[in-house]
Amino acid sequence: MLHQPVLLERSLALLSPALTKNNALVVDATLGAGGHSYELLSHFPNIHLIGIDRDLTAIDHAKTRLAKFDGRITLVHAIYDQMPQVIAAAGYNGVDGILFDLGVSSMQLDESERGFAYAQDAPLDMRMDSTDGVTAAEVVNTFGGKELARIFREYGEERFASRIADRIIKEREIELFTNSSRLAEVIRESIPAATRRTGGHPAKRSFQALRIFINDEISILERAIPAALNILNQNGRMVVLSYHSLEDRIVKRSFTAVSTTSVPHGLPIEPTPADYRLLTRQSESASEQEISENPRATSVRLRAIEKVGGVAA
Ligand SMILES: C[S@@+](CC[C@H](N)C(=O)[O-])C[C@H]1O[C@@H](n2cnc3c(N)ncnc32)[C@H](O)[C@@H]1O
Repeated sequence: MLHQPVLLERSLALLSPALTKNNALVVDATLGAGGHSYELLSHFPNIHLIGIDRDLTAIDHAKTRLAKFDGRITLVHAIYDQMPQVIAAAGYNGVDGILFDLGVSSMQLDESERGFAYAQDAPLDMRMDSTDGVTAAEVVNTFGGKELARIFREYGEERFASRIADRIIKEREIELFTNSSRLAEVIRESIPAATRRTGGHPAKRSFQALRIFINDEISILERAIPAALNILNQNGRMVVLSYHSLEDRIVKRSFTAVSTTSVPHGLPIEPTPADYRLLTRQSESASEQEISENPRATSVRLRAIEKVGGVAA
């Protein structure tokens, strides 16, 4: 299935004022299938776009999709917290527009051999970069019960985290886990029957939790958002689409920290204006219509910010 870009028009409209100057630089931090990048390059003929993805398959796919923009694009296999180094290597020291569209793409979910999807049987892998890191099989077959439960609770907000972890430990003593369907079934069986009937597939949250852990998504994002804010040019704008409450919390916290002045209330000092201005007071969601056409949009939360003072260091 071709990945449908989420909140496309809203993202473009928010970035637009920053992209009118000649040779404006845009970084798509999560290139994926190149859906947002394709539209950015089409709508703003004056921009150069650097696309980053940690998944080589995504880079290859986007290269083909964006071939007609050759000369205006630089595609880089990297982790997005490396953005400052990536733009420096491409000869830039500041960025006018940055887009993060977090999580995995429909393309990755569809490549059943990657083991992201609980609904398809596949080897338990779940690494976005298949060349690096531990696989889901290594985690479920070797981690202790407490650590497994922590992963399911913290990254999946799973109420039955300990029950699932205990059951995994018992099952792996009989036979090690090698594929996603057996793990999905064991998770389903660990959840009390009465709660199984609501809220989608019972293994969904635990699979998402494993993916977030395996790809170290939370700590990378905690480093990446401040690093990206730091390289925004004056009047540069950044849009972030999150799909998980932990992600949205990190974005909210980083945006709030730079958009408020640091002078404590009540001190007889004139506060200096903040260097950044929030473009969204609250997070924004997708419309009912978009959700009905693209279920991926269901959990999206959009936040945007503009740099108003100073220039990129
Ligand atoms: C939701 S998809 C992006 C889809 C894209 N906006 C489109 O419209 O086609 C997210 C992409 O970000 C990549 N990704 C996730 N975490 C990353 C990270 N820390 N560094 C670089 N790429 C990452 C994934 O490999 C995936 O291809």
